[in-house]
Amino acid sequence: MASTSKNSSFKLRCCMFLVLIGAATAQLSSNFYSSSCPNALSTIQSAVQAAVKNESRMGASLLRLHFHDCFVNGCDASILLDDTTNFTGEKTAGPNANSMRGYEVIDTIKSQVESVCAGVVSCADILAVAARDSVVALGGQSWTVQLGRRDSTTASQSAANANVPAPTLNLSQLITFFSNKGFTTQELVALSGAHTLGQARCTSFRTRIYNETNINSTLATSLQANCPSNGGDNNLSPLDTTSPTTFDNAYFTLLLTQQGLLHSDQQLFSGNGGTTDSQVSSYSSSSSTFFTDFANAMVKMGNMSVLTGTSGEIRTNCRKTN
Ligand code: HEM
Ligand SMILES: *[C@@H]1O[C@H](CO)[C@@H](O)[C@H](O)[C@H]1NC(C)=O
Ligand SMILES: *[C@@H]1O[C@H](CO)[C@@H](O)[C@H](O)[C@H]1NC(C)=O
Ligand SMILES: *[C@@H]1O[C@H](CO)[C@@H](O)[C@H](O)[C@H]1NC(C)=O
Ligand SMILES: *[C@@H]1O[C@H](CO)[C@@H](O)[C@H](O)[C@H]1NC(C)=O
Ligand SMILES: *[C@@H]1O[C@H](CO)[C@@H](O)[C@H](O)[C@H]1NC(C)=O
Ligand SMILES: *[C@@H]1O[C@H](CO)[C@@H](O)[C@H](O)[C@H]1NC(C)=O
Repeated sequence: MASTSKNSSFKLRCCMFLVLIGAATAQLSSNFYSSSCPNALSTIQSAVQAAVKNESRMGASLLRLHFHDCFVNGCDASILLDDTTNFTGEKTAGPNANSMRGYEVIDTIKSQVESVCAGVVSCADILAVAARDSVVALGGQSWTVQLGRRDSTTASQSAANANVPAPTLNLSQLITFFSNKGFTTQELVALSGAHTLGQARCTSFRTRIYNETNINSTLATSLQANCPSNGGDNNLSPLDTTSPTTFDNAYFTLLLTQQGLLHSDQQLFSGNGGTTDSQVSSYSSSSSTFFTDFANAMVKMGNMSVLTGTSGEIRTNCRKTN
């Protein structure tokens, strides 16, 4: 009897130990909400489709939100927190202020998801799913989103300033920046293909169109009409000037003729045997290769420093901690 009781007590402690280990190293999974909120994914997808149908650029904006969330202290929806008396958040950081969009769409999605299952689905997971659904809504390839992220209880303006790459970076700086985040040079190039969608402000490409030599002169002249050398900072131009609302490989084809909009974009192709030239050429000739690499890199990006188990919380309002 004593030995049985000792044995079951050992089993109990052993089991609790495994549960604790499990919580500490919890992995994301694709079926995380399949019993707790079976309609979560379809609710998000319908809302993204409606938002993109209303304004196609919103797909780009939702994709970028997930990127800026993940690169800054992990995919924890910290980017969605409004400033409080306790912290100045990420929305007012240089890379986001006057530029990041889509917060209201995320609010709409969150309230719809809360109405089907309250307190279950994290804002960080909504960002990851909305990014995927945006790419698909605009013609890109789908991928399985891993789920189970939880939301941060804080945000940091200085972290956002330090952890989002600037468009002024050269190739070796971009490679180092992404390497420090755990990404290969190949993944840097694949992820940069997100610039097949969306718009940039004049202030982000002014130096390039007035002072750089590795830009197609026809493109530079036409962009200057809407981006004066002084003023007009917020005037927009598409990152992919041929098909900014279609997720395709045109971004890479444009780089071959020096038609990248940002300095950082054109860094990926020099035409002089640059490290990433052959990959850009390959993506330009095969959209399926780009789509596959992009999908895999997005899954990896969505895995950056995630909060799982009992870390963080499930916010009820993405803009505020509970
Ligand atoms: C490789 C380094 C990167 C740099 C230097 C960079 C920089 C920029 C800049 C400067 C803008 C324009 C912002 C503005 O003027 O308002 C922009 C827009 C955008 N970026 Fe990036 N980015 C990079 C990588 C990425 C990645 C990895 C993704 C997503 C996976 C992404 C997605 C986007 C999208 C979709 C837009 C357009 C957003 C919209 O129209 O609302 N970027 N990026
Ligand atoms: C639709 O898009 C416009 C901008 O094009 C925006 O002002 C409006 O709020 C959007 N409507 C909805 C319901 O999202
Ligand atoms: C600020 O932090 C304190 C202590 O953690 C907390 O009680 C308070 O609710 C926080 N204020 C806001 C606006 O989040
Ligand atoms: C990239 O920029 C860094 C920092 O300004 C500089 O040291 C380096 O020489 C540059 N590399 C190239 C290849 O231009
Ligand atoms: C272009 O370069 C010149 C000379 O360095 C500088 O004075 C000017 O401000 C630059 N223009 C832009 C738009 O960056
Ligand atoms: C510049 O871009 C135009 C299209 O806008 C293209 O027809 C032309 O071939 C490009 N020039 C060079 C030198 O790549
Ligand atoms: C996600 O991150 C965890 C922990 O760092 C790692 O074990 C796992 O292999 C990663 N999965 C992917 C798809 O990158």
